[in-house]
Amino acid sequence: MTQHLAAPATTTTTGTRAEPAPWWRDAVIYQVYPRSFADGNGDGMGDLAGIRSRLPYLKELGVDAVWLSPFYASPQADAGYDVADYRAIDPMFGTLHDADALIRSAHGLGLRIIVDIVPNHCSDRHDWFRQALREGPGSRLRERFHFRKGKGPDGELPPNDWESIFGGPAWTRVEDGEWYLHLFAPEQPDFNWEHPAVQDEFRSILRFWLDLGADGFRVDVAHGLVKAPGLPDIGSGDQLKLLGNDVMPFFDQDGVHEIYRSWRRILDEYEGERVLVAEAWTPTVERTALYVRPDEMHQAFNFQYLTTNWDAQELRTVIDGSLAAMRPVGAPTTWVLSNHDVTRHATRFANPAGLGTQLREQGDRELGLRRARAATLLMLALPGSAYLYQGEELGLPDVTDLPDEVRQDPSFFRAEGQDGFRDGCRVPIPWTREGVSYGFGAGGSWLPQPRAWGELSVEAQSGVPGSTLELYRAALAVRRDHPGLGAGSMVTWLDAPDGVLALARDGFLCTTNTTGAPVRLPAPGTLLLATGPVTVTDGVAVLPADTTAWWTV
Ligand code: NOJ
Repeated sequence: MTQHLAAPATTTTTGTRAEPAPWWRDAVIYQVYPRSFADGNGDGMGDLAGIRSRLPYLKELGVDAVWLSPFYASPQADAGYDVADYRAIDPMFGTLHDADALIRSAHGLGLRIIVDIVPNHCSDRHDWFRQALREGPGSRLRERFHFRKGKGPDGELPPNDWESIFGGPAWTRVEDGEWYLHLFAPEQPDFNWEHPAVQDEFRSILRFWLDLGADGFRVDVAHGLVKAPGLPDIGSGDQLKLLGNDVMPFFDQDGVHEIYRSWRRILDEYEGERVLVAEAWTPTVERTALYVRPDEMHQAFNFQYLTTNWDAQELRTVIDGSLAAMRPVGAPTTWVLSNHDVTRHATRFANPAGLGTQLREQGDRELGLRRARAATLLMLALPGSAYLYQGEELGLPDVTDLPDEVRQDPSFFRAEGQDGFRDGCRVPIPWTREGVSYGFGAGGSWLPQPRAWGELSVEAQSGVPGSTLELYRAALAVRRDHPGLGAGSMVTWLDAPDGVLALARDGFLCTTNTTGAPVRLPAPGTLLLATGPVTVTDGVAVLPADTTAWWTV
């Protein structure tokens, strides 16, 4: 719906609530990447004790929940997304006692904890896989995975043409001649979700963490569990290009939904509004919406928003499309700009040439940060739930010049250095101006931090008006105090100059200038917060280039 900027007032926002909506509908959820957040024991690797010690910071920042990337026992072939034991903590991160203490402390502060569950694959060191290897071809234990004979006279060719997301074939041959499927690294064998033992095991794992107090699960590769019957060939040479754009025989198969219905029934047995969040890369937002039907998951990541250019029209199209796709199923839309798999948005937006999610250039850092701040404030004005990735509140750029020898991203090695630059967004975050790892811990840091990071630290930005950290704190405080923000499923678009977005929400207005030049607008209300120096003179507001402003009306 479009109204005039000079005359906002009535909105069609469905934000007025008769009774409090479930917490997750408009929650701001902060992603902690355990190895890079805070190091409690000084070994250079972040851990659960470190995270626990920094919970007050997250409380003060103003988030509602924390999502922890995996901390389970793991050989770390894919930074913990290769799980050897789903009920144990990797010693590098601490113990079960630490996990318990972390959850309790978070709850004590009113923060929820979402843990990452990795059901598509495990580690090749998981007991089940080791047993399956030992038992040999034809063994029943191999049926929990996808073992097959190869093609060709001696079975020397993979059973089908599927490629690993990390590059190379999706099959690895074992000594006895059979092949097993791994959509990711060879150290990550895919489970066979047709097998009842796999289904039972994961229901039991869910209960384990729910009993420990977890408020929910972020479900890794939620779209991958079920494969098309017969594991058919794809028949295309460039499979990576098809990913996320086309239906693949290993992704987004209809059979996955029955699994999440059964998981939902388990969560509903527990008190406290526990949640399931899908990491599901699907060809369309409409397909994503299927994961959040009323008897399935609660939320799904909105990757369409993350991959949108800094362009008013494109942003508006994605916002409208996302809201429209979720409305029929009654789920909140989610918004996310950064995570541990993509180039941080301050760097993506600094590269005018393109918006890849794996960038190797810094681009124009000032421009990138300006746009990143504006993009964040726009995101936080939208109805639904927003995800933040650790360090974005400091405006951290990606580290694009890590030497190859320190990189750990398995896709970097599989793709022979052509891709796999996820380490750049995983560099430990700076807490203090000085110190061996800028307050990350008493020791070093598992990936080198750039020298300039002291000035981006929490210490350097705290209390500094206009700093990115104070901007995030202020925005989250407004969001908390302004219940209409985040609620409902509609925005009202107001007429605005080219390149400017103006949206109204329940007594509140957000204007975003995506252009490289200042724009003049009739001041639409009282200025509440802005990402740059907005001026208002005689009823005329000047919005600098790449700036978002929030107004009350
Ligand atoms: C998605 C996770 O976010 C990513 O980090 C991981 O490599 C893959 N899933 C495989 O688990």
